[in-house]
Amino acid sequence: MQIQLDDVSVSYVDTGRGAAPSAEASSQDGSSTILFLHGFPLDHSMWDRQIDSLRHAHRCIAPDLRGFGGSSFDGGVSSMSQLAKDMIQLLDRLSIGEPVTLCGLSMGGYIAFEMWQHEPSKIARMILCDTRAEPDSHEVARGREMMALQVEQDGMDGVANGMIPKLLAPSTVQTQSETTEKVRQMIDDADPRAVAAAQRGMAKRCDSSDRLASIQIPALVVCGEHDRITPPESMRDLTAALPNGSFLEISDAGHLAPFEQPDAVNRAIGDWLAN
Ligand code: MLT
Repeated sequence: MQIQLDDVSVSYVDTGRGAAPSAEASSQDGSSTILFLHGFPLDHSMWDRQIDSLRHAHRCIAPDLRGFGGSSFDGGVSSMSQLAKDMIQLLDRLSIGEPVTLCGLSMGGYIAFEMWQHEPSKIARMILCDTRAEPDSHEVARGREMMALQVEQDGMDGVANGMIPKLLAPSTVQTQSETTEKVRQMIDDADPRAVAAAQRGMAKRCDSSDRLASIQIPALVVCGEHDRITPPESMRDLTAALPNGSFLEISDAGHLAPFEQPDAVNRAIGDWLAN
C-alpha cells in the first residue's frame, strides 16, 4: 500500500487482526496494533517473519522509512526526528486512535525514542531490538560521513559485503543462506541517496539516555547474543534504565535478531503482548 504524507509517499504493509478500515485498531481481547520500524539500510520486509506469526492476533503495520523500499525520497538529511514525525503522521492518516506497540530495530529504536519525545500518548508499549539510546561518538559520526560520501559516489556496490558480518552472527552466515541473501538483497536495493541521508541523520541524533526514565510504559528489550553493534551488555544497561523494562537475549543471533531467529523472538513478543 502507498500513502502520501506531507512531502513523502510512504509504502507500507497493513495486515492482520483489526486491519480492516472499519475495525477498531485495538480491541478488548489483548490484540494490539504493532508499528514496526526497520533498521538501516533495510526495509519493511525485515519484519516479514514477525508479521507472518503475529498477524493472527495483532494488527501489523510495517512502513518503509523515507527513501527505503518503496517510499519516496525528496533529498536532504533524514533526521531521526523527521522519520519519527513521518511515522506519527502515518498513524494519524490511518486513523489509529489507540496507542500502539512500537517495535523498532536499531535505527528503528532511535526513531522510537524520538516518537516518545514527540507523542508519548500514541505509544502503549515498546519493543526495542538491538538498539541504543546514546548518540554517536565523534569517530562513529565521522565514519558515517565517510560512508555517505562513498555511496553517493560509488553506489551500493560492495556495501553488503562490508555490512553482513556486522549485522549477522557468524552462525547465521554459515547456516542460513536464505537469510543472508535476503539481507544482501535489501542492502543492494537501497537507494544510495537515502542511505547517505539516514547516515547523516543518525550521526546528528540526540542523546536519548536521559529520556529512558520517562518511558514508564512496558518495554521489551531484545538483543542477539552475538550482536557486535549493540552488544548484550549495553542493552542490559539500557533495560536497567527503563522503569518497566524486560531483557531478552536471543541465542545464535547477531544484530538482526528478529530476522535471524524469528521463532524465538516471535514467541517472546507474543507471550509478552499477551501479559
Ligand atoms: C541499524 O541496524 O539500523 C544500524 O546498525 C544503526 C546504526 O548504524 O547505528
